[in-house]
Amino acid sequence: MERKEKNEEEEEIICLESFFINDNYQLTTFTFGSQVLELLCLQSASTDFDLTGQLVWPGAMLLNNYLSKNAEMLQGCSIIELGSGVGVTGILCSRFCREIVLTDHNEEVLKILKKNIELHKSFGTSNSSNWMTAEKLEWGNSDQLNQILGSHLGGFDLILGADIYILIKKFVAQNSIPLLFDTVEKLLRVRGKDQCKFILGYISRAKVMDLMVVSEAVKHGLHVTEIAGSRSVIGNLGGVIYDITLQ
Ligand SMILES: C[S@@+](CC[C@H](N)C(=O)[O-])C[C@H]1O[C@@H](n2cnc3c(N)ncnc32)[C@H](O)[C@@H]1O
Repeated sequence: MERKEKNEEEEEIICLESFFINDNYQLTTFTFGSQVLELLCLQSASTDFDLTGQLVWPGAMLLNNYLSKNAEMLQGCSIIELGSGVGVTGILCSRFCREIVLTDHNEEVLKILKKNIELHKSFGTSNSSNWMTAEKLEWGNSDQLNQILGSHLGGFDLILGADIYILIKKFVAQNSIPLLFDTVEKLLRVRGKDQCKFILGYISRAKVMDLMVVSEAVKHGLHVTEIAGSRSVIGNLGGVIYDITLQ
């Protein structure tokens, strides 16, 4: 009886969740330098759940413009992207790199991410058809990370992240920045110093967050450098690209 009540409660919560989920994705065109990319995304966030990844964020615009101008740095690389959302950064990189693993922790976001990967494979704009994958990765989750590393034993040349630390009042208590850097540090240590770097497209929304990102990186034994000339204004927000390596 108790079990039945619990199942009914769970069912009710699932029904409520699906009521809030907006999956009315639209095929949207993005231009980054000479690169034109079409993918499915929402035009604005409108849900009550952690579904920030359903749309493209200013940090991705900043990072993608930089990557398209510096595409030679991606040539032949293996890349992992953290908090990929709809996949706009990873999919752009797929045009240049050898292999890329796009990751996110949210099941709903992973669904649209996988759809966008399939869409791009069908457009035939990527290098080949079987090296771009989407994997579930929650920052700080060693099992999930080890599973990914199990099929990429040598680790990755580059770790990418765009706009992956936004602070939503409701989620402040679940600050995921230390966990993000746990994952980044582990990925960097697979290769060792100077063999892998984390490139982060950062948008400044709160001073407290600006300080926290840098101080967490340092606590994890990392060195943060601002990429020269990367500071810019996107909409009314200031952005910068960080190059983060082992100290
Ligand atoms: C603001 S969105 C940015 C999405 C995309 N990178 C962009 O710039 O358009 C943040 C992304 O990070 C993911 N994310 C947030 N917390 C996470 C966590 N603890 N572990 C893994 N992914 C997370 C979200 O699901 C979301 O896709």
